[in-house]
Amino acid sequence: MTNRMAVITGAGQGSGRAIAQRLAQDGIHALLVGRTASKLQDTAEAIAAAGGEATARALDVTDDAAVAGFGAELDGKTLDILINCAGDWLISPLADTSNAQLDHILRVNLRAPYILSRVLLPNLRRSDNASIINIGSLVTAISAPMVSAYTAAKAGLQGMTKSLAAELKPDRIRVVMISPGPADTPMRAAASPGIDKSILVQPETIAEMTHTIATLPRGITTSDFVLYSMSWE
Ligand SMILES: NC(=O)c1ccc[n+]([C@@H]2O[C@H](COP(=O)([O-])OP(=O)(O)OC[C@H]3O[C@@H](n4cnc5c(N)ncnc54)[C@H](OP(=O)(O)O)[C@@H]3O)[C@@H](O)[C@H]2O)c1
Repeated sequence: MTNRMAVITGAGQGSGRAIAQRLAQDGIHALLVGRTASKLQDTAEAIAAAGGEATARALDVTDDAAVAGFGAELDGKTLDILINCAGDWLISPLADTSNAQLDHILRVNLRAPYILSRVLLPNLRRSDNASIINIGSLVTAISAPMVSAYTAAKAGLQGMTKSLAAELKPDRIRVVMISPGPADTPMRAAASPGIDKSILVQPETIAEMTHTIATLPRGITTSDFVLYSMSWE
């Protein structure tokens, strides 16, 4: 083991699970965050079966008090990697999108990564080679209809990433966004039932890219990765 620790949100399934597994393969302790304890436990068991180390911590990242409590639990500990991957999706035309739906999408995809990054900043500052990696979406690079709330949230996350990358440079904390195109995860299965999986990005590919960025040498960073299948129209 490396004594390095990563917090991965949305680690119970999909890309977050694959990222946690990839980081753990490298001997990094994976602290798995998500809403559903049983899914996190399942990821933790898969990591342990492969010889890695993981801890499951059920947490709704939109619950400010719970996030503050999570931060307090980690007080004084060193955190090397924060992966803001938890997210939710909404396909809805402007005319039909309620205020509550808009608030939810902004809260989980934008506000939560902001607050979690702030809460865990003291822990990241203790690392000699820290990363915050935010999972965005291809929607910020294209013009897709019916996803204006989701696009607004991910575009906000992109702006936040760029500003924090500049702000945290003196701390040698790299802040990077990876923006995948449609990926083979439960989110996509729900959004596009019956889709041909051969035109999707595999979560393992997103995980590999995340791992590469999170293990760059100290003082080296990169920015804004878009990762998509060439078969996607
Ligand atoms: N799939 C795609 O086509 C695609 C494309 C581009 C970008 N993305 C982005 O990739 C990221 C991962 O998505 P995915 O495809 O892996 O989706 P997924 O299969 O739906 O997984 C999302 C995960 O986020 C967790 N989550 C949702 N709300 C949460 C909350 N309030 N607190 C804590 N955890 C929460 C879920 O936990 P529970 O299951 O316990 O609720 C779930 O484990 C998201 O940011 C998404 O926007 C996805």
